[in-house]
Amino acid sequence: MIIKSADFVISNQEVSKCPKTDLPEYAFIGRSNVGKSSLINMLTNRKKLAKTSSTPGKTQLINHYLINEEWYLVDLPGYGFAKISKSAREKWGELIHQYLMKRKNLRCTFILIDARIEPQKIDLEFMEWLGINQLPFVIVFTKSDKLNKTELINNIERYKSTLLEKWTELPQFIVSSSITSQGRDAIYDLITDTNNLDNLNK
Ligand code: GTP
Ligand code: MG
Repeated sequence: MIIKSADFVISNQEVSKCPKTDLPEYAFIGRSNVGKSSLINMLTNRKKLAKTSSTPGKTQLINHYLINEEWYLVDLPGYGFAKISKSAREKWGELIHQYLMKRKNLRCTFILIDARIEPQKIDLEFMEWLGINQLPFVIVFTKSDKLNKTELINNIERYKSTLLEKWTELPQFIVSSSITSQGRDAIYDLITDTNNLDNLNK
């Protein structure tokens, strides 16, 4: 996919204020520091499209970007901050759940997982919640450049085994690096295929 335009549209804390549109959209989410902003900037070839917050966990915003005037890329507030109050965590949960449940044009959520770390309860529980609510998602392993091939394969296998304890079918996996741009084509192939299907159904 050639990115002709990538425009910031709106940040907000209310699902009702998200853009009113029929265009397909794709959300990106993950724990703090997983590499979400870097991935979004790598995907869009923009150095500073995704805003990086100096106070992680404080700004809990849904950010909409319009890509090629054809689809929306949505940067969702991350989870798993060490220093976050219970009320902030509950507010995050409410906002994310509302967004994911209500956003009719949401086609897929990309869940970012740091390829280096072992499966975390918070990510697994989030995936379970998506599964229960029949919301499609894809796992993106980030920072692949920080591992050698064997480590990467072992970690992905470990992740798959953990998922198979609860799931009968595995989700799609994409390995990415914002340094080497690994995963860019796979993510765009998925988005392009879904957008094409959308157009066929119009
Ligand atoms: P918050 O918005 O603070 O929750 O973080 P984030 O998920 O947006 O992560 P961000 O993109 O800011 O990256 C966090 C750190 O990881 C930064 O120091 C990045 O330079 C580094 N990083 C992100 N992606 C990669 C990657 O693919 N490879 C390597 N080597 N470093 C990465
Ligand atoms: Mg960020």
